[in-house]
Amino acid sequence: MTALPDEAADPTFFTLESVKADLMEVESLTRACLNWDYGKRDSRVWSLYEKNKASQWNATTDIDWDHDVRFGSELTEENGAKLASFVVGEGSPVPPELLTRFRWEYQAWMCSQFLHGEQGALVTTARLVETVPDMDAKTYAASQVADEARHVEAFARYVDEKLGVVYPVNPGLGTLLHDVLSESRWDIVYLGMQVVMEGLAITGLRLASSGFGDPLIRQITRMVASDEARHIAFGVTALTGMYQQVTSAELRDREDFLLEAIRLMSRRFMLRELWERMDLDVELGVRFARTNPMMATYRQLLFQQVIHVLRQLGMLSEKVKELLIAENLVRAETMAAVR
Ligand SMILES: [Fe+2]
Ligand SMILES: [Fe+2]
Repeated sequence: MTALPDEAADPTFFTLESVKADLMEVESLTRACLNWDYGKRDSRVWSLYEKNKASQWNATTDIDWDHDVRFGSELTEENGAKLASFVVGEGSPVPPELLTRFRWEYQAWMCSQFLHGEQGALVTTARLVETVPDMDAKTYAASQVADEARHVEAFARYVDEKLGVVYPVNPGLGTLLHDVLSESRWDIVYLGMQVVMEGLAITGLRLASSGFGDPLIRQITRMVASDEARHIAFGVTALTGMYQQVTSAELRDREDFLLEAIRLMSRRFMLRELWERMDLDVELGVRFARTNPMMATYRQLLFQQVIHVLRQLGMLSEKVKELLIAENLVRAETMAAVR
């Protein structure tokens, strides 16, 4: 079994204590730029911007907030709580009498992480508006910022009004957001947000839109996922061809960033915060989350989109492939078939 990462020994890793504070501040040296060439506005990025403008929805009026959600009410796999079904059965750290509570806590944890990730997208994409040199990309990024604000609004309202339980940002997610916001190189901001975090989010949102137990969160996750598909396309378009033109030292920096991002995102799904909050055996729970076949399949599904985009960008290096296999984020046979 792969050794568990020693979070306490890693000074860059947030402890849960440190993220309980209301604010996370990140110092960075960035280079803002203005571009006086307004161009012809017929680029691929501009057409994505047109789609963004036409696809705006209103979180206040387009979501059915009247739907009653009762945190803690009976949930079974039959009425839609499929996403937490991995803890049902022998060897589970969750005793049968706590299954319903676990399902709701799991939903609250997932929605809280969606919420924090959305705020991360809001702030990192605002960084792109400032730093990216291309005018079409600045314009698109600004429209993505507006999307992310609506996503924050929708998840914050759901978590606050309907669940009443919010988890702090997961340490892996908090650390990656910190890393991305410390960056002055705009392409690394894209790699961190549009490729890795949004790549994971879109699959997570799609699975949630069919696996969560209440129609309201299914609607929210479905609407947010449709926006995320355009955000990912923006990242792919902006970075396509870029890594064929950089020096080997620059390429190594990007590879190092990706290796760290993959490690952090892999740790995110050990559900440590849930085991702690429910007073269950944390080490047993983490080992279960790491080794349970359904959880492993879930993580592999999440990483499919990231792997697909990295391959398109020419960033699926041997080291990246080895790490993905070592962390069991892809099966070795599947990776061998990826060209
Ligand atoms: Fe979003
Ligand atoms: Fe997004």
